[in-house]
Amino acid sequence: MEERSPELKVGVLGAGTVGSQVIRMLTEQADDFEARSGARIRVNKVAVRRLDAPRDYDVDPALLTTHPEEAIDGHDIVVELIGGIEPARTYVIRALKQGISVVTGNKALLATHGPELYAAAAETGADLYYEASVAGAVPVVYGLRESLAGDRITKVMGIVNGTTNFILDAMASRGLSYEEALNQAQELGFAEADPSSDVDGFDAAAKCSILASLAFHTRVGIDDVAVEGITKITAEDMEEAAFFGRTIKLLAIAERRVGEDGKDGVAMRVHPALVPLDSPLASVDGAFNAILIEGEAAGRLMFYGQGAGGAPTASAVLSDLVAAAHHRAFGGHAPRESVYAHLPILDPGTAFTRYQIRMQVEDRLGVLSDVAGIFARHGVSIQSVHQRDDKEPGACVIVATTHLAREADLAAVAHALSHSPAVREVTSAIRVEGE
Ligand code: HSE
Repeated sequence: MEERSPELKVGVLGAGTVGSQVIRMLTEQADDFEARSGARIRVNKVAVRRLDAPRDYDVDPALLTTHPEEAIDGHDIVVELIGGIEPARTYVIRALKQGISVVTGNKALLATHGPELYAAAAETGADLYYEASVAGAVPVVYGLRESLAGDRITKVMGIVNGTTNFILDAMASRGLSYEEALNQAQELGFAEADPSSDVDGFDAAAKCSILASLAFHTRVGIDDVAVEGITKITAEDMEEAAFFGRTIKLLAIAERRVGEDGKDGVAMRVHPALVPLDSPLASVDGAFNAILIEGEAAGRLMFYGQGAGGAPTASAVLSDLVAAAHHRAFGGHAPRESVYAHLPILDPGTAFTRYQIRMQVEDRLGVLSDVAGIFARHGVSIQSVHQRDDKEPGACVIVATTHLAREADLAAVAHALSHSPAVREVTSAIRVEGE
């Protein structure tokens, strides 16, 4: 007689855009998930805030509860999709402490309490999976945690926030102002009513720290990431970028490099950057995500796909669920926290970057040499200078692009320029990456 697969009880916390797609796919493709994991995965309880809230998929009302504990206690696996730190942290810890495996898409939780969650999972032998926390459907967490475990990663750089990519793409391709593009992103449901976590760069910073901790086997948190958002990017910046054959993207960059003390460390930053139009990151449009990973042995790899949305993010959640279910049924466990390298976090001021600085200057004899002198005094070498007349009488525009220089020296140049009598205004200072 054919042996029956063991049945696993799954509790789902949250039945919003992603949660309802997870439940739909688990229900509609139950046989496939059984064949792939070796276990019958049954949604047993779904915790929601409101029983009668409209949902993309009609969840069986008998499964719904407004008491999250009912979707945790006594289950085999809990899927946490409510987001935010609390009460999500309490629920995830409650599950892990009972030995219940957890699949979460909660980047903020991972980026602030990752070590605590890993410790709770290790204590009871439960699995902790979080593919959906970074870049939606794109399997970059698995890529770093498992596929690239055989390599030494030197750099992770990418577009990990779809909302800001939508806004910047709308500005670049349709000439919209920042405000117009943000309004459109909100109307289409890409940006929240309060867009701060996306446009100020914090969502990308959380993802950056998750990727960096996996890439460099070092415990890092969101506070270790130097963050700058996109709110100061103007239509003029975008025009200027196009004039020089570039576009502007919000990049998350994590790298392993030699610090000023001669020892290896980790540096992480999120900021808008000018990237050349022939860079693979320049063609990432709309709300898509893309991550470039450089490994010493593998060379350069690129991960690309939908970074948000119900079904794409559900795809990532379900891949974790298959792995967790397989372990539940047949033994084995998810990779534990790997922080053996203990690399120090490097001061962002010691990073080597390039800037393009645009300024309005007095149109008079010697102004170019005054400006060039400021760069030279701070040890920053100029790669190119472009000068043209300005609309304002008696003024002209200088666009200077630097060679690689210490971030702190570049900041000092921008400061000195803004206080120079030759300069009316520094209108923008944007880093250049990928050239
Ligand atoms: N707000 C995020 C983004 C959603 O725009 O990419 C996925 O984390």
